[in-house]
Amino acid sequence: MKMKYNKNFDNLVDNYLFSTIRAKKRAYEEAHPKTKIVNLGVGDVVGGLSQTVVEAMQKAVGDYLSPATFKGYPPEQGYEFLRESIARYYSRLGVNLSTSEIYISDGAKSDIGNVLDLFEKTTSLIPNPVYPAYVDTNLIRGNKIKFMEGRKENNFLPLPDFSDKNSYLIYLCSPNNPTGAVYDKKQLSLWVDYANQNHSIIIFDSAYESFIRGDYPRSIFEIEGSRTCAIEISSFSKRAGFTGLRLGFSIIPNELEVQKKKIGKLWLRRQSTRFNGVSFVIQKGGEASLSEKGSRECTRQVDYYLENAKILKDLFTNLGYDVVGGVNAPYLWIDCKKDSWEFFDYLLEKHQIVGTAGAGFGSLGKNFFRLSAFALREDVEIAKERLTKGGI
Ligand code: MLT
Repeated sequence: MKMKYNKNFDNLVDNYLFSTIRAKKRAYEEAHPKTKIVNLGVGDVVGGLSQTVVEAMQKAVGDYLSPATFKGYPPEQGYEFLRESIARYYSRLGVNLSTSEIYISDGAKSDIGNVLDLFEKTTSLIPNPVYPAYVDTNLIRGNKIKFMEGRKENNFLPLPDFSDKNSYLIYLCSPNNPTGAVYDKKQLSLWVDYANQNHSIIIFDSAYESFIRGDYPRSIFEIEGSRTCAIEISSFSKRAGFTGLRLGFSIIPNELEVQKKKIGKLWLRRQSTRFNGVSFVIQKGGEASLSEKGSRECTRQVDYYLENAKILKDLFTNLGYDVVGGVNAPYLWIDCKKDSWEFFDYLLEKHQIVGTAGAGFGSLGKNFFRLSAFALREDVEIAKERLTKGGI
């Protein structure tokens, strides 16, 4: 029999959304080399890391000099020191975790795709609009997708339909990428009840929890009943600036079982076959970011992005646009009143500002535009000046 490729790839759009955004930006830069582009597109951190994190990593590099302190392969589940720091971080939210329930990885995006190895082909319940990696990884796996609608009418926060008794993998992202919407405790409790009733599993993406300043849950495990129905996937990328360093983790409660199989055990089995861990240096950086001093420094960085978000939100609101998000989240979701790729081209051509077309996050994003607040303040001020003077 001849080799065949995985035909599920035919179901994907040609390029991953953020590769398209980067390519469009690059093409414009090449054609206009003297023009300053303001990049509010891909949500990538800017500026320096926290001093405490850098010092911890520098010290860790020194350990590699001597056989006595040298480190080879890291432990499959991650170093105990980092898992302890994460457990302590969660205990401040009132969530008690055993370090055996925490699995270190090279980032939330990897875990989001890899977690599908644990389940037979299934149907996933995924919001529309949504972070495109959820949809792409499910399509590659050959899963069916049932979309749940995020619209202005429900504040972009879809809730469970209790009349639907099927089991699903349910994807929730709060604070949400791309809409910036945040679930409150009551809403998440509905999801947990639904998942427990229908033997569904919630994949809770908490990559943006550090942006929460209001009274909202930062973790699904703040919700009663969640330990029997949820996996949480999180990241150091946005809370501590690790997008280039790569560090994340998943939390799988010891009670979480499907057909009497412990999901955490399957995950460890999967990871030890397919993954060789994150380097000691990076894990030391992660630990430092969770120390008292490191946390203070990281919070200052997040506050800086939140201030950017406020400036952008005020700006677009004053220009007459409906804007959600940007309060407990780094993303603003703007009703751009026209096709979002047209709006993308228009902002780039007229003001040299890059954002992300909402259509890239799903059909319901067609007339929305996402701005990322991960930018230097001077760039945000340039965008403000251009838009205030030039208008839209
Ligand atoms: C985004 O812009 O949505 C992020 O960069 C995506 C990610 O974290 O992979």
